[in-house]
Amino acid sequence: MCGIVGYTGGRPAAPLLLDGLQKLEYRGYDSAGIALLTPEGIRMVKNAGHGGVMALEILAGKIGALPMAASAGIGHTRWATHGRPTDINAHPHLDASGEFAIAHNGIIENYMPLRARLRAEGYVFRSETDSEVVAHLLARHYSGDLAEALRGALAEIEGSFALIVMSSRHPGQLAAARRNAPLIVGVGAESEFFIASDIPAVLKETRDIYVLEDGEMAVADRAGVCFTDFAGDPRPKTVTRVTWDAAAAEKAGYDHFMLKEIDEQPQALRDTLSGRADKSGVIDLGIAADFFADVDRVAFVGCGTAYHACLVGRELLEQWARLPAETAIASEFRYRQPLVDARTLVVAVSQSGETADTLAALREAKKEGARVLAVTNVVGSTVAREADEVLFTWAGPEIAVASTKAYTTQLEIMALLAMFLAARAGRLAAERSAALLKELRSLPAKIEDILARKEQLRGLAAGLSDSSSAFFIGRGLDWAVALEGALKLKEISYIHAEAYAAGELKHGTLALVTRETPVIAVATQRTLYEKTLSNVEEVKAREGRVLAVTRAENKELAAAADEVFFLPPVSDDLAPIITVVPLQLIAYYAAVRRGNHVDKPRNLAKTVTTE
Ligand code: M6R
Repeated sequence: MCGIVGYTGGRPAAPLLLDGLQKLEYRGYDSAGIALLTPEGIRMVKNAGHGGVMALEILAGKIGALPMAASAGIGHTRWATHGRPTDINAHPHLDASGEFAIAHNGIIENYMPLRARLRAEGYVFRSETDSEVVAHLLARHYSGDLAEALRGALAEIEGSFALIVMSSRHPGQLAAARRNAPLIVGVGAESEFFIASDIPAVLKETRDIYVLEDGEMAVADRAGVCFTDFAGDPRPKTVTRVTWDAAAAEKAGYDHFMLKEIDEQPQALRDTLSGRADKSGVIDLGIAADFFADVDRVAFVGCGTAYHACLVGRELLEQWARLPAETAIASEFRYRQPLVDARTLVVAVSQSGETADTLAALREAKKEGARVLAVTNVVGSTVAREADEVLFTWAGPEIAVASTKAYTTQLEIMALLAMFLAARAGRLAAERSAALLKELRSLPAKIEDILARKEQLRGLAAGLSDSSSAFFIGRGLDWAVALEGALKLKEISYIHAEAYAAGELKHGTLALVTRETPVIAVATQRTLYEKTLSNVEEVKAREGRVLAVTRAENKELAAAADEVFFLPPVSDDLAPIITVVPLQLIAYYAAVRRGNHVDKPRNLAKTVTTE
């Protein structure tokens, strides 16, 4: 997720673009840049953050070097996916002639074959990014009309994008396009137009907004703005008057970042999967095959939510690849003289990539000669840099302390890694792999179905928000999800919550179950259903209140429980990716009802850099 902004009008563009980028910093902040159209050609400044100084702060110190008379340009604030956060990888990107500039948010899935072909044709690439291909494609398709050149480029690229492009051959003109990434056009005073990923970027200047839909383009200059589809046919659009204040706009109108991030999960999952597997079931993790050679054990390490993702990773890996695997809470790992050696693959999972405990575990593993694979959301983070190989989740910045979209994308990576290793071990047939991938692709729509039933979850949360204690139970993969559900509830609602393997409850904890204790029973695993049902009956016999999160066909459980939330159909193995979503929402609505500070819960920090 990145922020893009463009301006064309009668005022100096550089300060307007910088201001817009500052408002979009929540979309990405590892590098930033601005390019302007001037009579002498395109002028550009861009940089990554350096030495603890934020990228935009450094950029702000440089814009004085740009011609202030320039009144059209584009800007970008980056959250790196393809290519490290460096000065060269910062956007905008230019074609080789320097006549075309682009700013891109999204992922160009087929950038590798496009780059290979363009290189063979003589185009010289400067950056490691997927986005740079668009600048060269523009030059390649240009024959006098910028919008036509953009249409030509769009016909070649696959993936998601919000793009703003400009050319020194067309002073004052910006062209933009959208597919699966947000883009708006703001109408300013006296024939000026702003183009941006998000409303906060333009709110200081205008409240009159056009919202582009997927498959739409805009071309703006001082004469006006016109909208077309990718074929060039006109698209009628109406202006929307935005009434949000600036803070609400940053959250796209949501009350909290957490809810926004819960809602972003379908797209985050699509992005994280993109370009990593083909339709026939072949997985390409972008890691050389010999990295995994001779691996005979896998150890997953992480903290908090990331640790819960590890639990799912271990289960899938053992089931599919039949490879011995263990999980360790990162803060425990280094102190127990872990049994790792050169044949052990240590998978270090961390959203931020900066968690001190996870870093310490990673270093310990390397010291023992293990090879380390990081799973992280932050390109350029310490975990990413110190690991031998990295699999990035492409969830975009997660701002709420309670992790949501980072977790579900970690689970998706866990599934891909387990499939990859199982296929390598000859234990996953191509048809099974293709079927799993097909299901992974279907999960965003299933989450959308759950998100559409928020009101039911709000009601269920109301039923438990006055409780002082709650239990979550489940077996197998459901237990892993129960642990995450309990963590979500306690960290933002401050209700004491514990998760138990459902069969374990009767070994002591059942003594705590009374009419006042809600028990959330997670039951998606078909082979374990009867057993979980028995455990629910045990709770009911002690007058406990049960909320079941389960499959629609589990009628006996629905009848036994006091309340039930039905999940869309899903396979047992991939169920955790969608099952956690109602638990996230129950925690969220309970916290809101209790009047808590949802995004910044007491005593907690987003990145925990102390051991
Ligand atoms: O950045 P990391 O994934 O390494 O963070 C690990 C935990 O601190 C984190 O998951 C924490 O448990 C979250 N607040 C949970 O919502």
